[in-house]
Amino acid sequence: MDFKYEIAKLIAQSCGLDIEEIVDTIEIPKADMGDYAFPCFRLAKVFRKAPPLIAAEIAEKLGTSEYVERFEVVGGYINFFVNKTSLTGGIIDDILKKGGDYVKTDIGKGKTVCIDYSSPNIAKPFHIGHLRSTVIGNSLYRIYNAMGYKSFGINHLGDWGTQFGKLISAYKRWGNKEEIEEKGISELTRLYVKFHTEAEIDPSLNDEARGYLVKMQEGDEEALSLWKWFVDISMKEFNRVYDMLDIKFDAYTGESFYNEMMPAVVEEIKSKGILKESEGAQVVDLEEYKMPPCLILRSDGGTLYPTRDITAALYRKKTYDFAKCLYVTAIDQKLHFAQWFKVLELMGYDWAADELVHIPFGLVNLGAEGKLSTRSGHVVLMEDVLREAVEKTEKIIEEKNPDLENKKEIAAQVGIGAVIFDDMFNSRIKNIAFDWNKILNFEGETGPYVQYTHARACSIMRKAGLEGAPENVDYSLITDKSSLALVKALGDFPAKLIEAGEKYEPFIISRQLIEICQSFNRFYRDNSILGSEGEVRKARLALVYAAKTAIKEGLYLLGIKAPERM
Ligand code: ARG
Repeated sequence: MDFKYEIAKLIAQSCGLDIEEIVDTIEIPKADMGDYAFPCFRLAKVFRKAPPLIAAEIAEKLGTSEYVERFEVVGGYINFFVNKTSLTGGIIDDILKKGGDYVKTDIGKGKTVCIDYSSPNIAKPFHIGHLRSTVIGNSLYRIYNAMGYKSFGINHLGDWGTQFGKLISAYKRWGNKEEIEEKGISELTRLYVKFHTEAEIDPSLNDEARGYLVKMQEGDEEALSLWKWFVDISMKEFNRVYDMLDIKFDAYTGESFYNEMMPAVVEEIKSKGILKESEGAQVVDLEEYKMPPCLILRSDGGTLYPTRDITAALYRKKTYDFAKCLYVTAIDQKLHFAQWFKVLELMGYDWAADELVHIPFGLVNLGAEGKLSTRSGHVVLMEDVLREAVEKTEKIIEEKNPDLENKKEIAAQVGIGAVIFDDMFNSRIKNIAFDWNKILNFEGETGPYVQYTHARACSIMRKAGLEGAPENVDYSLITDKSSLALVKALGDFPAKLIEAGEKYEPFIISRQLIEICQSFNRFYRDNSILGSEGEVRKARLALVYAAKTAIKEGLYLLGIKAPERM
C-alpha cells in the first residue's frame, strides 16, 4: 500500500497539481503530527498566496479515502492521519512477502558505483585506522547494492613507491627469509624502520634504495620477485582480517596496476598545458583554487600518489563507466583528493567534479592507556582488536549462557559485530573514543544489543513453533501504542536506507536499527505474545517476524552477522 500516493491523489484532485510532484514533496512529520505531511510553502509562488491559506483551501476541498482517517491544517502544512489498520497491514504484509528486500529500492538501476576502500599499504601494519575505511566502505557497498546500483569494491593497495626500494635494500643487508615468513609484516616493518635509522648515519643507503626502485621500474627479475614476495606476505595477513570481517573485493588493483598506464596520462596532462616545472619536479599549479600544487612527477622522474590516483580514476571511468566513484579514507587525506580531483577537471573531465567523492572519516582515539592492548608494539593492529573483541565476548557468553551451542562462532559474530557497530554509530566524521565497556554492553546502543534483540525475536518464533511468515493476518487487532510505534519504525526503514546512501552515512542505518530494537522491546514488554491466543497471537507474531526480518537486513547492511541464538 503506497500511502504517499493515495494522499497525493486526494491532493491532486483538490488542487490540480501533478501527482508525482506531490508525492515528492510529502514528508514524514515528527511524532504526533500525523503520519504524512504535505507542506505548502513551495506553492506560495504558484498560487500567490500565503502557505497557511493554501493549505486551508486545499484541505477544504479534500475528498475522502478509506486509507485516510483524518487530516488537519497546521500552519503551512496539511497533516494526514492514515487508517491504522491499513497502515499496519501495508507495512507488515510487505515485509512478510518480500523479507529483508522490503527495504530495497531500484533508484540506482543500471548504474555502477565504484567504492575504493580499505586499501592498506603493503609491508606496513594494517592498523585500526584502516578498520574504519574497511567497515564504512563495506557498508556503503551493501547500501548501494540495496539501492539498486551495482557496487564495485576496489582495494587500492599501496603496493608501489619508494618504500619498496628501501625495503629491498634493508632485506639484503639485514633481513632473514625465515624470520619474515614467520613474523610477516611486523618483521618487514622492523627492517623498514631500521633502514631509516641507518640511513641517517649513512645517507648513501638512500641511493642504494633508489637504485632498487629503478630496477623494479625497469622490470629487473630479482627486484620484482622480492617485491612480489613482500606483497604475498602482506596479503596473507590482510586476508586473515578480511576473513574475520567476511569482506571480499571485486578487484585488488593496487597502485602498481597502473604503472604502465601512467606515462600516457602524464603526457596527456602535459599536452593540456597544465604541467609545469617546480624545483625540478613536475606539478600542476592550483594556486587559483587556493591549494598547494599537485605533484605529478618527482625530480628523478618517479611517479607519485596523486599520479597513480589520477590514472586509476581515468581507468575506472573507462572500464566501469561509474555513476560515482567513492574514496573512503581518513579526513587527513582531504587535500590530496581535492587536489587531484581538480587536476582531472582542468584536464577537461567535467565528471570529476561531481562523480568523484571523497568520503572522509574521523580518527580513532585509543583513550586512556590500557583500554586497548597493543600486543604488537606501538601501533594498534586491526587483527588484535578483533581478536580481543572475540575473546572478551567469549568470556561474557561463558557467564551469561554457558550452554549455548556453537559458542566460538557466535562469540566471533558478536565480538566483531560489536566493533563494527560502534565504528558506525555516529556520523563518520566524528572521532571515535574506543571503549570496550561501551562497545560490548548488551544493554546500551550497541551491536550486541541489536543482535540480542534479533535473537530474542527468533526465540519467540521458535517457541511459537512458526517457521515461516504468518498468513492472513487481521491487522485491526494491532491497536496499542507500542505496537504501532514498532510498525512505524519498520515502515520508516526504506526511506532511511536511501538517506544513508545519499549522505554516505551508515550511521543512519545503525540509528534506525536502535529505533526498531527499542520499539520492539517496548512492544514485547507491553504485549503478551506467546501467552495470547488465536488471531491476536497471530497478529503479534506477524510483528515479531517482521521485526526480526528488518533487524537482520539492517545488520547485513552494516556488515554484521545476525545469530539466531545468543
Ligand atoms: N593506501 C592509502 C593509505 O593507507 C589509502 C588509499 C586510498 N585510496 C586511494 N585511491 N587513494 O593511506
